[in-house]
Amino acid sequence: MAPGSSDRTVTAPRRLRGEITPPGDKSISHRAAMFNALAAGAARVTNFSDGADCASTVAMLQALGVAIERAPGPAGRGDTLHITGAGAGGFCEPDGVLDAGNSGTSMRLGSGLLAGRPFQAVMTGDASLRTRPMGRIIKPLRQMGADISARAGGALAPIVFLGGTLRGIDYEMPVASAQLKSCLLLAGLRADGETIVRQPAASRDHTERMLAGMGADVSVDGLAVSVRASTLKAVDVPVPGDVSAAAFWMVAGAAHPDAEILLRDVGVNPTRAGIVTALRQMGADITLQDERTVAGEPVADVLVRSSSLHGVDLDPALAPIMIDEMPVIAVAAAMASGTTRVTGAAELRVKESDRIAATVAWLEAAGVGVEEAEAGFTIHGAGRIPAAAADSFGDHRVSMALAVAGLVVGGSMAITGAGAVDISYPGFWRDLDLLAGRVG
Ligand code: S3P
Repeated sequence: MAPGSSDRTVTAPRRLRGEITPPGDKSISHRAAMFNALAAGAARVTNFSDGADCASTVAMLQALGVAIERAPGPAGRGDTLHITGAGAGGFCEPDGVLDAGNSGTSMRLGSGLLAGRPFQAVMTGDASLRTRPMGRIIKPLRQMGADISARAGGALAPIVFLGGTLRGIDYEMPVASAQLKSCLLLAGLRADGETIVRQPAASRDHTERMLAGMGADVSVDGLAVSVRASTLKAVDVPVPGDVSAAAFWMVAGAAHPDAEILLRDVGVNPTRAGIVTALRQMGADITLQDERTVAGEPVADVLVRSSSLHGVDLDPALAPIMIDEMPVIAVAAAMASGTTRVTGAAELRVKESDRIAATVAWLEAAGVGVEEAEAGFTIHGAGRIPAAAADSFGDHRVSMALAVAGLVVGGSMAITGAGAVDISYPGFWRDLDLLAGRVG
């Protein structure tokens, strides 16, 4: 079933108050499961993301013969995975089609795991994922020697992996994509010689951090990352809270007239936390408390209070490091006074939905001044969002952005396909009710 089949209506509460511990980071959860599957030895991953995307990665690894047991974690925390690594050469041929569901990370990083294996594998995904660009990974993987075919002349899933022998390449990435970078680094771990990936701009660096922590021969030089064939040692990963989930409450807290929200154990890796910079530039009252390092990742508690927001021209360099937060920054921009311009964010066109079109559609329907551009949008904030009804387009982040709009809306926000939140944040509605004081 497609994600997001349920509908919801959200109205603004008088106050937003409370503490939230967001779910385990989705990007780090995928990587902790995949990299430990490649390692020799046993590892425990705690606070694993409870979203459907990371469940797709676990099912895929299990179909490749990796032993993974999933057990409930302590109250209020995500599940614990017990993974027995198969070793770099240890996967076995899957006896069915691998299904990445809605998850671009499962498909693109999974392709780095499957390229050049001595067996055949087929990977597909849901209707959204089957429209998303896969040529960006298939082309360089073929250059590395992988035998891969895919629909639409090698551009779209399903993808068929037919073996091959991997050798390192020096690759200039055409887009700042952590999924592409990570895919090639994973293939590089089993390739002959050195693999170098050169990014046009910084993207999230969880892969580099975790691989280094597992003893891989990986090095970073500015925007270039290189890797050589390595044996990984298993590591336990306590997954920090997902800044991309916390971002919804940061915007809600800053935009609501009577709010104070404490977000606990949030990952604030600088290659992910562009939302904090952007909101501060807009005048948001956000404080990072008790900054610390957990499993090689910066973590903090984040306090956000009602703020008087103003429009800004967002630096395009922020786009790759807050790409998943663009749907929700649009809510802050609508609630701000003055104009906010988002540029350099063409990647939004090829996410789980076309997030530029989805954002422009709901803002127009809500009566907020907005102009669409090929690589972004311009929002004329008037300090209020009148009542609206909108479609999530089956996209989890659009659904949650609409719900945040509902928390500050003049009337009510009716969301079609609200259930898409389950992709990354199944507890989203519970947390919303808690902050709105709608639970006992
Ligand atoms: C992700 C990278 C980003 C992001 C996605 C998760 C990752 O995609 O949008 O939600 O875990 O590496 P791109 O790498 O394509 O920008």
